[in-house]
Amino acid sequence: MRVLSGIQPSGRFHWGNYFGAIRQYIQLQEDPQNEVFYFIANLHALTSVRNREQLEQYTLDAAIDLLALGVDPDRAVLFVQSDVPEVCQLFWLLLAITPMGLLERCVAYKEKRAQGLPADAGLFTYPILQAADILAYDAELVPVGEDQKQHIEVTRDVAAKFNHLFGETFVLPRAYVLPEAAKVPGIDGQKMSKSYGNTIEVFDDPATVRKKCMRIVTDSRPIEEPKDPEGDHLFQLYSLFATPQEREELAATYRRGGFGYAEVKRALAQKAAEFFAPARERRQELAAQPQRVRQILADGAATARRKAHEVLTRAQVAAGVFRSPS
Ligand code: TYM
Repeated sequence: MRVLSGIQPSGRFHWGNYFGAIRQYIQLQEDPQNEVFYFIANLHALTSVRNREQLEQYTLDAAIDLLALGVDPDRAVLFVQSDVPEVCQLFWLLLAITPMGLLERCVAYKEKRAQGLPADAGLFTYPILQAADILAYDAELVPVGEDQKQHIEVTRDVAAKFNHLFGETFVLPRAYVLPEAAKVPGIDGQKMSKSYGNTIEVFDDPATVRKKCMRIVTDSRPIEEPKDPEGDHLFQLYSLFATPQEREELAATYRRGGFGYAEVKRALAQKAAEFFAPARERRQELAAQPQRVRQILADGAATARRKAHEVLTRAQVAAGVFRSPS
């Protein structure tokens, strides 16, 4: 199975990124039947990050973070989106056949307009660049969080339209979303997202994680009162780090009552610090070897380009776009 996913370097990764996507990257890479491609979507990040040093730094940090969290360059092709220019060529072939209505329905653009904010054409056409990212590698499975499902549907629609117009060219991908981590809540209970300022970062030091955990919003019911764990975002966050048994124990404590949320927050912070400790250590080693990381990205880009070139050529021939013999 060909697996592909991308992640924006628009800041440091948070728990939503990890449980919603990165953890599945690692699991899928472990299956020798899978061929996996993971990339850092710096062209997408350009729609929000408008500072050169920052974008470069975030991109390198994203690579280091992914490697520290377990992406294995011997098993996964890891690269930076802009190192594969074929994707931008494919982007145009797809854009040329994309109905406006399809993009007008996309959430990121719609939300921005609803807030009365000006939107750039980049944000509007963003889902088609993502479609190009996916189709360029004949990807079949795309591990993502729930918020990206709509973009995978758009990818399928556009690919199907292209195939209909020009003959079978693209593989239709499907999203791989884990129900229990589809929408990781932030400290305020909404979806964890940089744009809501409610994130806890994977590589925050334990003291910062603890501080953020203590700020998780909870209701003000008294200690003695029994509480329902279902739908409680503190319980949901704890569950991400807990074994099934620990999860059940906490659920029973909730139902019994007689505890304070602060205890659960402290336990969560402790679990999170332990959970990410090995990755934090690996990250330190990798951060000291930026040349090695850049080499991994260069090797990944070379492999990715070979595949993307093949698919782009197929699409160009199908659409009748002239290509001089190379
Ligand atoms: P991005 O960078 O916003 O997010 C990266 C991944 O993290 C997931 N995620 C979450 N999952 C669960 N709960 C949350 N609170 C949460 N927050 C983020 C996202 O669903 C995503 O899987 N457009 C994409 C990047 C992209 C891409 C692609 C993805 C570009 N090209 C091709 C797949 C295939 C994005 O902005 O993800």
